[in-house]
Amino acid sequence: MKKARLYSGMQPSADSLQIGNYIGALMQWRDLQETYDAFFSVVDLHALTQPNDPAELREKTRRTAAQYIAAGIEPSKSTLYVQSHVPAHAELAWILSTITGFGEAGRMTQFKDKSQRYGSDATSVGLFTYPVLMAADILLYQTDIVPVGDDQKQHVELTRDLAERFNGRYGEAFRVPMPVIQQETARIYDLQNPLAKMSKSAESEAGVLWLLDDPAASAKKIMRAVTDSEGAVRYDRENKPGVSNLLVIYAALTGRQIASIEDEYAGRGYGDFKKGLADVVMAEFEPVRARAMDLLGDPAELDRVLAINAARAAEVADETLAKVYDSVGLLRRA
Ligand code: AMP
Ligand code: TRP
Repeated sequence: MKKARLYSGMQPSADSLQIGNYIGALMQWRDLQETYDAFFSVVDLHALTQPNDPAELREKTRRTAAQYIAAGIEPSKSTLYVQSHVPAHAELAWILSTITGFGEAGRMTQFKDKSQRYGSDATSVGLFTYPVLMAADILLYQTDIVPVGDDQKQHVELTRDLAERFNGRYGEAFRVPMPVIQQETARIYDLQNPLAKMSKSAESEAGVLWLLDDPAASAKKIMRAVTDSEGAVRYDRENKPGVSNLLVIYAALTGRQIASIEDEYAGRGYGDFKKGLADVVMAEFEPVRARAMDLLGDPAELDRVLAINAARAAEVADETLAKVYDSVGLLRRA
């Protein structure tokens, strides 16, 4: 039986991924690649919507790819590639932009938030069409499911609308994908501000655990994580967001139930619990970090693997794009 197709991606927006990316995306991707025909991209074209130093963007792109592999995405099993290596993404994005409403794109909450924050002169057209490029990513591969965080759900809904509109107007060209939204238990919050999602672009470093950071630095951040004055290791998202967040991290990395961790630390203070969590995080991150550093030590080999995967991706993407060009009436090159 043919496996269902899965597509997801992440922007190369930092030198290191943070533990939220690891638990909320990479760990799930690693599991999903066993049952799906999975495509994972490093979406460097999307990253251009933020100001970037060119040399740094190149480095972040390699680093992000290396961390995918180090976390267990296998480039022989999944198709792991860099978005800009497959020109069909930009080409399909143009076609899709011609069937996207101006108002429709303007209703995307991520665009509204960002354009309000930066002001209209600092807001690029690229930021406006960002979701159209994301739709192209997904639709090129005849994708069945798209695992994403809930902030991306609206973009996947737009993707579905565009696929249906195109199919209705020009004939079947795209499979209509389903979003698979990340579970609340996979959402990680900032260690210093446990009401805010942990993010690569957090204002303060103190609340973010980086996959490639020095293990001692991560341990220190865990020991200083915000908790509460009750002193009991107990899951209660509303009243104890800090401790609950640490419990979620502990459970996600060990595969244990939260209740069993609560039992283990019953009657012991937060110090013991944090020490235990620091050990868990260090044990998990150390081999990932070592493998990523290994891969980054031989960029030529990493680039070679990415090129092979890009060729595999292009085969699928080019087939969809050719069909789309034909459907809309572009003259074939003789
Ligand atoms: P970002 O770094 O925001 O581009 O996120 C890339 C992916 O990582 C998204 O698909 C999210 O699902 C996941 N992710 C990012 N931050 C978190 C977090 N704090 N908790 C869980 N998942 C996250
Ligand atoms: N916009 C997504 C994010 O910020 C990244 C992304 C780009 C993506 N293209 C995609 C995710 C296609 C899933 C499928 O997280």
